[in-house]
Amino acid sequence: MVCLGNICRSPLAEGVLRHKLNERNITHIAVDSAGTSGWHAGENPDPRSVQNAAGHGIDISKLRSRQFTVQDFDEFHYIFVMDQSNYDDVLSLARHEEDRQKVDLLLNAAWPGKNLPVPDPYYGGEAGFEKVFSLVSEACDALIENLIIQHENR
Ligand code: 4NP
Repeated sequence: MVCLGNICRSPLAEGVLRHKLNERNITHIAVDSAGTSGWHAGENPDPRSVQNAAGHGIDISKLRSRQFTVQDFDEFHYIFVMDQSNYDDVLSLARHEEDRQKVDLLLNAAWPGKNLPVPDPYYGGEAGFEKVFSLVSEACDALIENLIIQHENR
């Protein structure tokens, strides 16, 4: 899960996806998050994201921000970005077509082909964080269905 700062959206997305996988006893999928910038590297998530997640029974307080690196293309099968600017930044690091194929907007999992963004809540209030949670949650449900269906049909 990738956003700009790795303190608001992508840590929430990481926590939500991990939580949903745990609920379904899916243990073989590794989930991580990163920021296209290193502006907040080493920091815990924004307190508003921590609080929002806690309200949904998810603890993201111990996560730490890190910058996305080209090695992430080798580590992960899928790279989900929150908005078009994250997409462009990640694609600018891609070395070849195989890297590029791994990247998609997270919300395309739930709304295929629409290229909808998860809006950046950093400069807004709490409502923006709840909006992020609701979008990310719906996308992660779809993601799990898609991954499971793909896997079962392999
Ligand atoms: P995020 O939100 O990309 O969802 O983590 C932001 C966090 C920090 C900044 C911008 C967006 N910033 O400008 O520092």
